[in-house]
Amino acid sequence: MVCIRKATIDDLLAMQACNLLCLPENYQMKYYLYHILSWPQLLYVAEDYGGKIVGYVLAKMEEESSECHGHITSLAVLRTHRKLGLATKLMNAAQNAMEQVFGAEYVSLHVRKSNRAAFNLYTETLGQTAKMEGDS
Ligand SMILES: CC(C)(COP(=O)(O)OP(=O)(O)OC[C@H]1O[C@@H](n2cnc3c(N)ncnc32)[C@H](O)[C@@H]1OP(=O)(O)O)[C@@H](O)C(=O)NCCC(=O)NCCS
Repeated sequence: MVCIRKATIDDLLAMQACNLLCLPENYQMKYYLYHILSWPQLLYVAEDYGGKIVGYVLAKMEEESSECHGHITSLAVLRTHRKLGLATKLMNAAQNAMEQVFGAEYVSLHVRKSNRAAFNLYTETLGQTAKMEGDS
């Protein structure tokens, strides 16, 4: 059984570890701290029955824009726990909070062209328009 819950400061190291295992885009701890201090409502983790963090979403509000919108900075689920609907639940939790807490009109995110899993998740399951980025 895996639960989706709001992240706390104590989860940040585990979120960073999950990010390092899953993605080439990595961030210093101060960037995670910046997110949780600025938008504590927008960070969620997936936690298994043993207390292990197996997925996360790191999101924020876009400040330098005329329209009020949220942005997904990073999303990942450990390989061992994929295809169970966890990323969908994490995204829905972050998106709902963006709308309800901050009145976000839409959510932006970047996805590499070759990342089929993420692209399908965003466009098919969540019905979003993802901004494609070339692979370099
Ligand atoms: C992308 C990622 C977060 C998906 O996590 P997940 O928990 O497995 O996703 P879900 O189980 O919620 O899947 C939802 C939808 O995503 C798509 N999807 C997920 N894995 C897929 C795969 N391997 N191939 C194709 N589509 C896939 C499907 O549309 C799926 O819906 P379906 O189950 O009805 O077919 C996960 O694969 C991951 O962490 N990848 C590495 C990090 C990454 O790419 N992050 C996104 C950066 S933009």
